[in-house]
Amino acid sequence: MNDDGRSDISLRVNDVTHGLNVDNRTTLLDALRDALDLTGSKKGCDRGQCGACTVLLDGRRVVSCLTLAVAAEGTEITTVEGLAPDGELRPLQRAFIQLDGFQCGYCTSGQLCSAVGMLAEHAAGWPSAATVDVSADASAQELDAVEVRERMSGNLCRCGAYPSIVRAVLETADQQAVTR
Ligand code: FES
Ligand code: FES
Repeated sequence: MNDDGRSDISLRVNDVTHGLNVDNRTTLLDALRDALDLTGSKKGCDRGQCGACTVLLDGRRVVSCLTLAVAAEGTEITTVEGLAPDGELRPLQRAFIQLDGFQCGYCTSGQLCSAVGMLAEHAAGWPSAATVDVSADASAQELDAVEVRERMSGNLCRCGAYPSIVRAVLETADQQAVTR
């Protein structure tokens, strides 16, 4: 940290390292959008309530509007731009398209990052508030619509595309179960 309230930091985003000089109060969301021109992550509420800004830090989902850029140094940050690095959509993204998982699309980058993190949490055996048996390995319990709605409840969609979002996540979960 410098005396002027700024810091020289290094952020690793989507496998690329960026050197930045930021005000210590800069959020990760603003650093991504304004300094790195990665505008896929959206600013909805800017107060941790809508999930539009969700990104993955070391594979775990966070709301980037409530994460300081300086605190993200040393982590592997994945934004929606990093979900299809070579332009090849992953099954989750294809399912969103095929099943109409969005309308205006403003929430979609957050929904996608959140779903990637959520599916990894389930695969790792993390229970949710909707998991029937929290004493057992949650990954052994099949994801259903109730589970997906609960686990994705931090991501709001003002267009109300929830039924299609849930279907897209469930279809992806089924595909991943087949390939495991
Ligand atoms: S913009 Fe971050 S949660 Fe809404
Ligand atoms: S698709 Fe419009 S806010 Fe979700």
